[in-house]
Amino acid sequence: MALGAIWAQSADGVIGRDGRLPWSVPEDLARFSRLTAGSVVVMGRATWESLPDAYRPLPGRENVVLSRRGLDAPGATVVPDLASALAVVGDRPAWVVGGAQVYEALLDRVVRVEVTDVDVVVGAGVRAPDLAVGWRLLAQDPPDGGWHTSRTGVRYRFRTLERDAARGAE
Ligand SMILES: NC(=O)c1ccc[n+]([C@@H]2O[C@H](COP(=O)([O-])OP(=O)(O)OC[C@H]3O[C@@H](n4cnc5c(N)ncnc54)[C@H](OP(=O)(O)O)[C@@H]3O)[C@@H](O)[C@H]2O)c1
Repeated sequence: MALGAIWAQSADGVIGRDGRLPWSVPEDLARFSRLTAGSVVVMGRATWESLPDAYRPLPGRENVVLSRRGLDAPGATVVPDLASALAVVGDRPAWVVGGAQVYEALLDRVVRVEVTDVDVVVGAGVRAPDLAVGWRLLAQDPPDGGWHTSRTGVRYRFRTLERDAARGAE
């Protein structure tokens, strides 16, 4: 299984507040769609509920939704635990797409992370996992570590990280 994780985070590490994204960067959503197209996407119940009606289920992808208490989620496969989610994924390419609880729960299984840095400070909210130890930067866009500017005016950049095998062996 080649399990990736993908998220966007603010300068202070926030990925969501009040059940939604606290910024608007359509270029990030376009990249998300491109990278996850055709894959299995694994998400928590809160993230499923945060999707706009038009994108629930996320089209062109098998949507797997984790919920312990159960859920009516037309168009998705609802599973009660991590083992069941991983069994549905099987050997197929898959992305963990949030939220904070599910990133934390599955990070041990993830080999690659796509992070979008969004240059805003949010304050309170749910937070991204800490990748300071055990991960190395594979690529960034822009390549010089600078910023793109969204058509909404918000600055953003992309980073690809992979597990640092050397650190993992320590
Ligand atoms: N910035 C980004 O890239 C990004 C991406 C995705 C989401 N988000 C944001 O993140 C926020 C939601 O994140 P969150 O952490 O609050 O919620 P979440 O991880 O999306 O969902 C949490 C729910 O998932 C289920 N769950 C979690 N772990 C489970 C496990 N091990 N086994 C079975 N079920 C499990 C539970 O559902 P039940 O309560 O039904 O049992 C739990 O309440 C929203 O604001 C959303 O907009 C941001």
